[in-house]
Amino acid sequence: MTDLRTVPLTDRFGVILPECDLKDVNRPGVFPRIRALFEEHSALLFPGQHLSDEGHLTLARHFGPIEDRLADERKEGEAYKIPQVSNVTEDGLTGEEDLHMLHLKANFLWHADSTFMPVPALANILVARVVTESGGATELASTREALAEMPDVLKARLRGKRLRHRYAHSRARISPALAALPMFHKWPDQIWPAIWTNPVNGKEAVYIASHACAVEGMGAEEGAALIDEITAFCTQPRFTYSHNWRVGDVLIWDQRAVLHRGRPWPMDQPRTLSSLCVSVTEADGLEAMRSGAG
Ligand code: OGA
Ligand code: MN
Repeated sequence: MTDLRTVPLTDRFGVILPECDLKDVNRPGVFPRIRALFEEHSALLFPGQHLSDEGHLTLARHFGPIEDRLADERKEGEAYKIPQVSNVTEDGLTGEEDLHMLHLKANFLWHADSTFMPVPALANILVARVVTESGGATELASTREALAEMPDVLKARLRGKRLRHRYAHSRARISPALAALPMFHKWPDQIWPAIWTNPVNGKEAVYIASHACAVEGMGAEEGAALIDEITAFCTQPRFTYSHNWRVGDVLIWDQRAVLHRGRPWPMDQPRTLSSLCVSVTEADGLEAMRSGAG
């Protein structure tokens, strides 16, 4: 039996499993414990794993259905590939101002993944494949912790609100040319309550992202200002964790309760993370989000 002991990731959220070998995830009792830790702590770090692509997929499938944003773009017979967050392309390192680089830069805005999709993401499971000597951290912010400490006046402005999410919105914040690409217009706007209640433990968290473009029923300026204010509140240093990668590290977070962002790195150095998003299911609170007011 693999060792599932934990130590805190920060004093507020997240745990590290220093001894766990994720290759044992199919053994009886292992995944249920991991899943319980995920619900309770919102972020899990498994340092120095040796997970193959197949092992990565196996782990992800335990959490739920693997998201496949490119399903409609793949040609017949073309195989599914695990998405990579990387500045290395088939043509070599990405140039400073090309669209691929701008897309990476959009990841430097605080966000949750896939809030713009009809079925949003439950988790992202990142595996570090190529890392840099400096820069390139991934940062997490607990919106559950932030909500618990939010002043009542701000909380009152958020409660009951629904946010409109649009993929092209976060891209437009980086570059209009980037936002114009068809890949950012595949899904109609999604409207989600601004608070996601975890159905397992009843804990509430702010559900917001760089993709949030408006607050339903509010004027554009007022809505944008509220989105900025809430995001700034949630991402104060005391609610965050910054992960400096080592090859093999596996980092998992709960998209319903955590924001994340990448940090810049010297772009003449390659950095590649394998990234699998898992979609939410009814058990994760999807129906309540579809019908709820937050
Ligand atoms: C992601 C992401 C940030 C990073 O994988 O969804 O936003 O640090 N990654 O590369
Ligand atoms: Mn992301």
